[in-house]
Amino acid sequence: MKFTQFFTITMMMSLTTMINAQQQLNPETEKKIDILMSKMTLEEKVGQMNQYNGFWDVTGPAPVGGTAEQKYENIKKGLVGSMLTVRGVSEVKAVQKIAVEQTRLGIPLIIGFDVIHGYKTLSPIPLAEAASWDLKAIEKSAQIAASEAAASGINWTFGPMMDISRDPRWGRVMEGAGEDPFLGSKIAIARVKGFQGDNTFKSPLRIAATAKHFAGYGFVDGALEYNAAEISTNTLYNQILPPFNAAVDAGIKSVMTSFNTINGIPATADRYLLRDVLKKKWGFLGFVISDWASIKEMIPWGFSKDENEAAKSAVEAGTDMDMEGGIYVPYLIDLVKTGKVKQEHVDDAVRRILRVKFELGLFDDPYRFLDEKREKEIIGSKANREAVLDIAKKSIVLLKNDQNILPLKKSGQNIVVLGSLAESKNSPLGSWRIAADDDTAVSVLEGLQKYKGNSLKYVKGLEITKVEPTFLTEVQYNMTDRSGFEEAKKAAKEADIVVMVLGEHGFSSGEARSRTNIDLPGLQQEFLEEIYKVNSNIVLVLTNGRPLSISWAAEKIPGILECWQLGTETGNAVAEVLYGDYNPSGKLPMTFPRNVGQIPIYYNHYSTGRFMDKDNNVFWSHYSDVDKTPLYPFGYGLSYTTFEYSNLKVNKKSFAKGEKIIVSVDLKNTGKVTGKEVVQLYLHDEFASVVRPVKELKGFELAELKAGETKTITFALTDAELGFYNHQHEFVVEAGTFKVMVGGSSNAGLSMKFEYGN
Ligand code: BGC
Repeated sequence: MKFTQFFTITMMMSLTTMINAQQQLNPETEKKIDILMSKMTLEEKVGQMNQYNGFWDVTGPAPVGGTAEQKYENIKKGLVGSMLTVRGVSEVKAVQKIAVEQTRLGIPLIIGFDVIHGYKTLSPIPLAEAASWDLKAIEKSAQIAASEAAASGINWTFGPMMDISRDPRWGRVMEGAGEDPFLGSKIAIARVKGFQGDNTFKSPLRIAATAKHFAGYGFVDGALEYNAAEISTNTLYNQILPPFNAAVDAGIKSVMTSFNTINGIPATADRYLLRDVLKKKWGFLGFVISDWASIKEMIPWGFSKDENEAAKSAVEAGTDMDMEGGIYVPYLIDLVKTGKVKQEHVDDAVRRILRVKFELGLFDDPYRFLDEKREKEIIGSKANREAVLDIAKKSIVLLKNDQNILPLKKSGQNIVVLGSLAESKNSPLGSWRIAADDDTAVSVLEGLQKYKGNSLKYVKGLEITKVEPTFLTEVQYNMTDRSGFEEAKKAAKEADIVVMVLGEHGFSSGEARSRTNIDLPGLQQEFLEEIYKVNSNIVLVLTNGRPLSISWAAEKIPGILECWQLGTETGNAVAEVLYGDYNPSGKLPMTFPRNVGQIPIYYNHYSTGRFMDKDNNVFWSHYSDVDKTPLYPFGYGLSYTTFEYSNLKVNKKSFAKGEKIIVSVDLKNTGKVTGKEVVQLYLHDEFASVVRPVKELKGFELAELKAGETKTITFALTDAELGFYNHQHEFVVEAGTFKVMVGGSSNAGLSMKFEYGN
């Protein structure tokens, strides 16, 4: 260690035991739980720990709960604490009535559902929303999702997913907030607030949220789903855990385990993570749910010999509820009776589950989420559509705009639109939208057709997929049919501007949609190059659920707009941005690699012992075939205006321990139109007891400036931003020299140094 002086800080985010303001016990509720639990038999307690899937949707292997009749029977026996994917007021009422009116104790069910980016009215996929860096808009989006889900009888969502991932091959990156723990934590908090409101659940339009997948799912080997993860202490504490910790601090009510093993232990049986870190050190008071059958899956993992052992390991580790695994009910009762599992583990789980049910108001009124009138009024309302349109526009990232090909002129142009994704009303809905009806998005084409000033022609040219995929089928890209190319080329030749809508189908990402190649799939690259031969005036509208490697396009195509899958209002949002009625301000929440071989590639990497220039000699840290830099870095995104950064200041050269550091920078809109810019602040600790990343995001602000306007943006840095977790799992702030960098991407332009704690 270069600097002898260092401080171990005890703070909210540290691993010292601490009950935070949002995870406080309410003595009255605890008393009610005591009374209720004193009346419960062991069978009824274990019943609370059992969750069944509903009767139709399946997001994993075949349901175990049996036929609908058997499930109803088990609810009556008090052997079910929760159901998932039952939805709609009348369906939920049917099961809730049984639990409340036909069981001995009348304990209401908690009703869970994957409300990932909306219920029926869909927001952009979560990765896209993260590109907005607009925490208010993200919170609002979760609020809309919560309100529609709640109006449909649901009171608990399996979201937000907060898995940090550096691997765009992993299909589930669409569900998260990207690669960065700082941005990821802020977004996790915004989403928890959006779902849970002020955590009182006085409003029947707020629902309990789930932090998932705990932990390390974004680091599965080879980006292969349901796989193992080998994770260093460094990565676990500094990258993966912070968003979960932040969500707990924000008062989240449940946490879902992940399918993976971490360093050889299935996450569902990871006692250290679940009991020691989550429940004890972070003071989490909600309950832990397994992922779908993840308790049972510990048998094929080779961790548990049989179902009995799997149940024992999971409950001892602190997994409180069994999602569709059918393991707790048949085994736990005997395990407790024979003294193999301590009663206190079951009691702890049941207490936690009941606590959340009390907090949701389900004991006061089990039917409070079940109001047909509200269901009709809220779901799909005009206000909700307006809100998702707003966040959709904010999620778009302008990647390239040579010769200001964008925005499109409003009249006098011949525009041809190519590619079947342009007319798709399904793909823009993205994955994880179980409750939304198919084909309900505004297509890009429909959005463009609202602008009447130009001549607009649509030629499909390429059918992207062979058959329309579903949530339950594999996407098959068209690899052979080029029959539309000639007509498309002819139309492109006559056009002033060619808008090509290419990318991935909405079901290409999400669960079990890992890919080894992240180029434009199928014949799309060939199609793009063929069109380019006849007209290079192309605007590429990308629609995808993960970063793609688009090196050829990045070099040749003048206009590239990253539009992800933007949900119900996709076409309207894309058209407004293409025509300049909305000036794009999105910034990438994940690095775009040049090719798949660079993965994992992320901005907050370490330095190397040989981080030298290529001119020196061949033995430097590089690839022989491809530049080692990303195609587009984290935090990158353009605008229809330009911004200039100047006058970076740190209020002092040297700071004593505990002093606040104030950083300011002037931002000027040097272009011709009003625009928004995400001002990003990165820090680097030059020497430390554990080598520190070359830079880490530690602050950002979304600023709006009129043409010609200058604003001073100010950031305050404290120990929370300066410190890190060391190998002893302690949060430490070491004295030394820090470099602060500020700019419009992770390639931030301005930098300064300051001394801290010396
Ligand atoms: C997924 C979870 C999801 C659950 C319930 C699992 O397959 O991994 O994220 O919440 O299914 O649908």
